[in-house]
Order: sequence, then structure tokens, then C-alpha cells
Amino acid sequence: FAGIARIPCVVHVVWKTPAQNISQAQIDSQIDVLNHDFRATNADLGIVPAAFTDLIADARIEFYLATEDPDGNPTTGVTRTQTTVNGFGSDDKVKSSATGGHDPWPTDRYLNIWVCQLSGGLLGYAQFPGGPAETDGVVVLHTGFGTNGTAAAPFDLGRTTTHEIGHYLNLFHIWGDDGSGCSGSDEVADTPNQAGPNFGVPTFPHVTCNNGPNGDLFYDYMDYTDDRGMVMFTDEQVARMEACLDTVRSGLIA
Ligand code: ARG
Ligand code: ZN
Ligand code: CA
Repeated sequence: FAGIARIPCVVHVVWKTPAQNISQAQIDSQIDVLNHDFRATNADLGIVPAAFTDLIADARIEFYLATEDPDGNPTTGVTRTQTTVNGFGSDDKVKSSATGGHDPWPTDRYLNIWVCQLSGGLLGYAQFPGGPAETDGVVVLHTGFGTNGTAAAPFDLGRTTTHEIGHYLNLFHIWGDDGSGCSGSDEVADTPNQAGPNFGVPTFPHVTCNNGPNGDLFYDYMDYTDDRGMVMFTDEQVARMEACLDTVRSGLIA
């Protein structure tokens, strides 16, 4: 695509307790975070040390709540569904009304984002490009969504959704998903080879897999640090996401 890709989103709020029925302001705060993170205009980019600043990339992707529903009628881009489910898992039940959730809007044209209670400490999960249409999209825990309302530290800066959309646009975890080994790859050339995930907010440099002196790029959205520690995508990660939007997911920006 040329210029900026603008992706229409629908947020499906699936709630049991009233608190889980998050506010419009909380939804808007998440869209705002995405529009900074995917344009490299987030205010916290300054935490990246000079050794890595050349890798910071603008993905040229923006997000908006859909203004037209699948039938062509005006919409807020938000659905709200009451459920009897206490907590969902990564089994896609939130993605179907038959299992206590809400069916997706046409996944070739909308980025579907389900926000709900998740069990077992799960912050979110995503479906990679090329999977089944009926489960396509991302799911995010309501307390890890947006920056106000029920959003709770240390996952209250909207970065879980940024991370999940990274997967949705074909990015793998930066450590290569090989446990703590040095043989897995994220198939991205400009991210240093890294042993396992980083948690919390590490101190620079964190050297693994002979990646010194600068070490792991733990500032990347595709690591597992706290929200305030993940602030960037790299050029080659951006190339993968843009290639995905130009091919498998081109219907989103048609
Ligand atoms: N565990 C989730 C996943 O692998 C999300 C991790 C997001 N991390 C964060 N600091 N917000 O997709
Ligand atoms: Zn992930
Ligand atoms: Ca790599």
C-alpha cells in the first residue's frame, strides 16, 4: 500500500459483571494508543538507548472504529454482549454467540477485537493471517485494554493490543518461540537473536545468545515486558506487517 493504511475495527465487549462492560472512553484510549504505536509517535520512545534508535520504524498503519456495519448501516464500531461466562480461555469461545460470546463481523473487512474477562492470567491472544475466518481477530483482557477505566498496571498502557495486532499482522515473538534456546527465529532480520522472553522492565543491556554488546531488543512490542517497557517495532517487522496488509489481509484496506 502507498501512504497510510487505515484499518476499520470493531470492538466486541463481552461482559458478565458491569465493570467488564468497559466505557467508550476506555475503548477510545486503546485506539489512541494504537495510532501512536503503529506510527512511532508514542511519547515513550525516548527510553530506547542510542544503540537501537536506528531500528525504530513507523508502520504507517492507523486504526479507527468502523463507521459502517456489515449491512452498510451507521455504527459506533462497538458491540456489547452480556454473558454468563465467568472467564474465557484461548479456545475462541468468546468469538461465537453460541458459546457465550459474539460472532465476528466479516473478518476480511474488519479487524475484530474482543474484550472480555480471561482466565488463568491470560492477557490476550491473536490469530495469525491465513487461519479460519470464523475465529479471526484478537482477544484482549479488559484490564489490559486501553489506559483508563478497568486498565490496571503494569498492563495499563494498551500494549497488549499492540502486541496482539503484531501477531495478527504476522509477527512472531522476538525470541523465536523456542523456550530459552538460541535456535528459534522470529524470521525478522534486524532483531537480535534472543534466548527467551523478558519480563518486567529489564536493565539495558541484557545479553543472551552472544548478542552483545547491545543484547536483547527488549523494548520491542513483541517481547513480554511490562507495558511501559515495550515501545517500538523495527524496520523489518514493519516490512512483514505491511506485506501482510498488501496480500493476505488486503481486504482490510480495500
Ligand atoms: N501473553 C500475550 C501473548 O503472547 C500478550 C503479552 C502482552 N504483554 C504486555 N506487556 N502487554 O500474546
Ligand atoms: Zn504474543
Ligand atoms: Ca531475529
